[in-house]
Amino acid sequence: MEETVLLVGGGGREHAIARALSESAATLYACAGNRNPGIARLAEGFETLDTTNPTAVRSYADDVDATLAVIGPEAALAAGVADALDEAGVYTFGPQEDAARIETDKAFQRRFMKQHEIPGCPDFETFDDMEAACEYIDDYDGDLAVKPAGLTGGKGVRVIGDQCTAEEAKEYIRDSDYDRIVLEERLVGEEFTIQGFVANGQLRVTPAVQDHKRAYEGDEGPNTGGMGAYSDAALQLPFMSESEYNDAVDVLRETVDALDGYKGVLYGQFMLTTDGIKVVEFNARFGDPEAMNTLPVLGTNFLDVLVAAREEESLPQLSFQRQATVCKYAVPDGYPTDPQSGAEVTIDEESAGEALLYYASVDERDDGIYTTTSRSFAVVGVADSITEAEEIAEEAISAAGEEGLRVRHDIGKPDLVQQRIDHMAELRGE
Ligand code: AMP
Ligand code: GLY
Repeated sequence: MEETVLLVGGGGREHAIARALSESAATLYACAGNRNPGIARLAEGFETLDTTNPTAVRSYADDVDATLAVIGPEAALAAGVADALDEAGVYTFGPQEDAARIETDKAFQRRFMKQHEIPGCPDFETFDDMEAACEYIDDYDGDLAVKPAGLTGGKGVRVIGDQCTAEEAKEYIRDSDYDRIVLEERLVGEEFTIQGFVANGQLRVTPAVQDHKRAYEGDEGPNTGGMGAYSDAALQLPFMSESEYNDAVDVLRETVDALDGYKGVLYGQFMLTTDGIKVVEFNARFGDPEAMNTLPVLGTNFLDVLVAAREEESLPQLSFQRQATVCKYAVPDGYPTDPQSGAEVTIDEESAGEALLYYASVDERDDGIYTTTSRSFAVVGVADSITEAEEIAEEAISAAGEEGLRVRHDIGKPDLVQQRIDHMAELRGE
């Protein structure tokens, strides 16, 4: 049967999904709030619409006779877009609103882990009363992470002892108008992501990736949606062992068992600590940037995964090209606190050279491609080693020019990767 896939979302992550699907026999349609030129070129049709409006997405799916759908962004999942598409008979690789709470409600997420005794849950408490939260901070012996319960695009967390003092954290809690927050034990170690494909109670995992959340080089500045990421030719990363990777996969497997009926990507954000693997959070979708590290090295046809999920068949075992990847985002000047939009983006697939180019939150107009206030585009090097992959990405970035843009050049460079290895060795007392 000829499949028609509707892709929801217009960022770098969705461009990577579009490219993975374009390598299969599927006919692709896409919808997003911005016109992403990379996706538009791969798709048979591209509709600009509000992807948090389930009726609008469903109506476009009807128009194009979609047989499958993939949802990229969490906001669409939180808005019940998967519910609307499933109800319309379009199997959607992405959880319905209720199941997406594993990402969209951090208080639910922690309680769920505790209730199901999923390993790796830090000590936590949830608060609706912000003054009680401040008292808890005063009384707690050690550092805490302050996490708004709802979605904040990865920008709402404040870690005491890392990003702020206890006094600043209390000020932050009092000044923001969050209804509910989670206070949890600060985890110390190295972070990594594993994304799993989940359907029919099965889990298929992908290589570990390390994202860089901080805005500036040397891990300085505010948290962002992610400035870039790397993965190695192995399943694990250079600062961890294969058995630590497997421990994190075990956490994902126990979570899938407890979730019962989950479908879509389950993204585990882990902290490797001296006390083993801990869960920083779960997401209900591919990571952005991590999808751009993972999908280019996926040897298995992504459409086959989607079809097996829908048909309630066994998901294919995944194969990966044993290659390292380095992804670097170009973001607008001032991102994330005071982003300046409107710079022209001149890079295209040809000038990106050996690197893969993924457009993100840019807007294609009649006279060119322009930045918005979110991340603009990413380049990805794929090679035998992280070092070579980084050089490929860097070459593409320098060809793109940085007028009105900012890049973290340090991502994937040998120095920074070595710092991660040294950090873990130091924590382990080696
Ligand atoms: P999140 O929005 O949950 O992804 O959190 C954003 C970032 O805050 C994470 O990537 C971590 O770097 C940091 N973070 C979240 N929770 C903790 C924690 N319990 N301990 C230390 N850092 C954390
Ligand atoms: N890269 C972090 C995220 O997608 O949430």
